[in-house]
Amino acid sequence: MRPLLLIANTPSDNTLALRQAVAAGAKRTDLPVLELSPFEANAEHVLNASAIILGTTENFGYMSGALKDFFERIYYPCLEQTQALPVALYVRAGTDGTGTVNSVERIMIGLRWKLVQEPIVLKGAFRSEFLQTCEELGEAMAEGVLLGIF
Ligand SMILES: Cc1cc2nc3c(=O)[nH]c(=O)nc-3n(C[C@H](O)[C@H](O)[C@H](O)COP(=O)(O)O)c2cc1C
Repeated sequence: MRPLLLIANTPSDNTLALRQAVAAGAKRTDLPVLELSPFEANAEHVLNASAIILGTTENFGYMSGALKDFFERIYYPCLEQTQALPVALYVRAGTDGTGTVNSVERIMIGLRWKLVQEPIVLKGAFRSEFLQTCEELGEAMAEGVLLGIF
């Protein structure tokens, strides 16, 4: 089975906990999960993925520089071969998140990847419910791949 690829920057303990929660949720299923930072992830990982969960902080009203670097490296190597790839997005933001969602959605249109659910924005003071949301996201995405519903 091709793995579910989880790509998220983790500049803080909170954001690392979010990524780990997504991975833990996905690992409740039988689908293999590959958890990487955006700087580790490359086009080969994407070409081999069954689906992707992207996670990013909002920085300066945009996705993290780490995730932007990932997209810049994989865009052309993946463009022709990954159309309709199922994707989900979660954003950790201090107060907003809108600019990040918009920026990732624009790239999804360019790559023709398919956002399979509304982006999740986790904003404000960190709350333990965020972890539950992330676990559910990981599990739902992995189940969706296994059931072939995307
Ligand atoms: C350089 C920098 C720029 C940021 N810009 C934004 C921003 O434009 N909008 C926003 O909502 N939060 C912004 N933040 C807050 C981050 O999204 C937040 O620190 C990050 O998600 C980590 O959250 P945590 O406190 O739960 O670890 C910024 C943080 C940094 C370090």
